[in-house]
Amino acid sequence: MQKRIHILAMGGTIAGSAGDSAATTGYQAGAVGVADLLAAVPQIQQVAEVTGEQLAAIDSKDITAGLQLKLVARVRELLLDSSVDGVVITHGTDTLEESAYLLNLVHFADKPVVLTGAMRPATALSADGPLNLLDTVRVAASDSARDRGVLVVLNNEIHSARLVTKLSTMAVETFQSPNGGALGAVNDGQVVFYHSPDSCHLSNALSVSEQLTKRDSLPYVPVLYGHSDDDGRLVRMVMEQGAKGIVYAGMGNGSIPERVEKELAAAVQAGLIVIRASSSAAGMVTKAEASYEQAGFIASGLLNPRKARLLLQVVLACGKDAAVLRKFLA
Ligand code: SIN
Repeated sequence: MQKRIHILAMGGTIAGSAGDSAATTGYQAGAVGVADLLAAVPQIQQVAEVTGEQLAAIDSKDITAGLQLKLVARVRELLLDSSVDGVVITHGTDTLEESAYLLNLVHFADKPVVLTGAMRPATALSADGPLNLLDTVRVAASDSARDRGVLVVLNNEIHSARLVTKLSTMAVETFQSPNGGALGAVNDGQVVFYHSPDSCHLSNALSVSEQLTKRDSLPYVPVLYGHSDDDGRLVRMVMEQGAKGIVYAGMGNGSIPERVEKELAAAVQAGLIVIRASSSAAGMVTKAEASYEQAGFIASGLLNPRKARLLLQVVLACGKDAAVLRKFLA
């Protein structure tokens, strides 16, 4: 019997339309509906029994917490629906890794949830979307993808939601996992896993996901990007704007200029949770200076700043504190 895979379409370049088939920029993202995306890949029907649903039709740079939470709620319903074997999400690549990570945090089932996108619009010569979609359905329908959390499939590679990141602005091989590499591949239709991801779901993911379905926003947690001559004034500004936590994308191993460190330490004293992440593309952020520990900053580990932000937002939304976060990131 064929697996039953439900596709949630969110928009993005995979659904993009340009006036000129040679154009790979300047197109309208999210213009092609899910029915047309599926119609462009008739081979999908040989892989699985596929249904589609348009959840949004946006350029993913515009995704809001409200829409991310709507996605979490819909995926939750599908995971609890015994008539669905797996979920595929077509998504703009600009924030794909964020939605994937959020879904992975609250993933509670062994059913595959697999995200994909494209770097070239659907109307482009050598569009990458159709094969990405076919490969993604193959992964979602594969028994070997069960119990591996939320996955991301593009350019024939399978990545974990936690470690994958968009590295290149325009290349089709943009999704990479610099800390650990791809989990597997789709080789001419054959799904192969080289290794399994650490689960890294919240331990109470089922109830956290339920709590999130009752919300339409998440606590305000900005990412501040460190740079030379940073004097920390943005820390004061975001506190005035009601930030509940701050992710500081520091240099190298989450290093923070002294003047910023002073402001961030004051933020912790005022009750905010501060995560030290890094603007570097690869490597882990570890406990470093003793003063960072004394101030109460939490190292982001393998999470990039945008994913650390989502984690902190979810922790705050559930009324949890820095100790819970510290343990989760340890
Ligand atoms: C988007 O993120 O929606 C536009 C860019 C893309 O999908 O590649």
